[in-house]
Amino acid sequence: RDLSHANTMALPCIAERFWCAQDSASVAAALRLANANDWPLTVLGGGSNLLLPARLAGLTLVPELPDITFAPGEGESVVVEVGAGVSWHALVTACVERGLWGIENLALIPGLAGAAPIQNIGAYGVELSDVLLWVEFVDRRDGQCHRLASTACGLGYRDSIFKRELANQVVITRLALRLSRRAHPQLGYGVLAERVSKSPGLEEIFSAICAIRREKLPDPRELPNAGSFFKNPVVSASSAAQLTQRYPELPCYPQPDGRVKLAAGWLIERCGLKGWRQGAFGIHARQALVLVHFGGGDLAELLAFSAAIAERVHATFGVTLVREPRQVHEADS
Ligand code: EPU
Repeated sequence: RDLSHANTMALPCIAERFWCAQDSASVAAALRLANANDWPLTVLGGGSNLLLPARLAGLTLVPELPDITFAPGEGESVVVEVGAGVSWHALVTACVERGLWGIENLALIPGLAGAAPIQNIGAYGVELSDVLLWVEFVDRRDGQCHRLASTACGLGYRDSIFKRELANQVVITRLALRLSRRAHPQLGYGVLAERVSKSPGLEEIFSAICAIRREKLPDPRELPNAGSFFKNPVVSASSAAQLTQRYPELPCYPQPDGRVKLAAGWLIERCGLKGWRQGAFGIHARQALVLVHFGGGDLAELLAFSAAIAERVHATFGVTLVREPRQVHEADS
């Protein structure tokens, strides 16, 4: 199965085996087959956060589980359950249309709802962890469906248990969010407050987020990319203080644990790399954290290009950049 058009980075990829699952029974059947043959498993959602090899080993599973349901929760809250196969942005749109607050700042994030907990998607001051209630998944070790409360998901900045202990072991089938009918604008991040009125409504914030993202982030259908290619590095308070002495304009975001998150896009731009192109890959001219694929490249070339960027940033600032999109099983031959 050719997956070259099924990943937003448009990396050339052939999957050895491919399975679309419309319900959790089909997910469980796919996992039994993978177990029986000892195949590695790759779950492919929107393909917006994956770096695919030329040949993808084992079984590639696409969870196409549909449906969004809304149920009254405590007080003004509403519990929204969503199947893993629903597009994340379609979910945000449906919630905004119903007047439900909580995920409007996460508009236009590419990919499927089922992938959202894996990297705890976040943007413009909101993370999935702020609203997530639970995640349901089928575990390949016992073939059973499990429900994990949000608090047990190990959610952190672009991180969760699904990237660590449960990586390649489970297929997320469903999740639930707690949203609210009560207005709760979250305008603390960067330029957002300047882009809306004094007490903006839900649709206004949603539209502003869509507009900001469209200005900065390339549409993968026009210029293939995987969103932010690196995480924003989190450093100790003392390292951050040393850096801001030398670079007073360095954007810093203090974290609850006392450490400081730096803007990787700024570091890359400051190295003079914004818009830099080498062969098939380049750094986006409007957002240095996004690597773009001009066509004809492959995973090895992309990894060499990104390593060169990380080396330059390290040589200049002493800060290590960690990749954000996940790399998956390469076939041996
Ligand atoms: N900046 C630069 N040059 C650049 C890019 C950014 O100087 O080329 C500076 C900006 O001026 C700003 C700061 O860096 O002061 C932050 O920039 P921005 O608001 O564009 O956000 P980001 O930190 O680069 C993160 C997320 C994005 C998310 C935005 C908005 C990560 C890895 N990325 O990017 O998420 O949309 O914040 O919240 O945390 C993604 O994960 O794929 C993604 C797009």
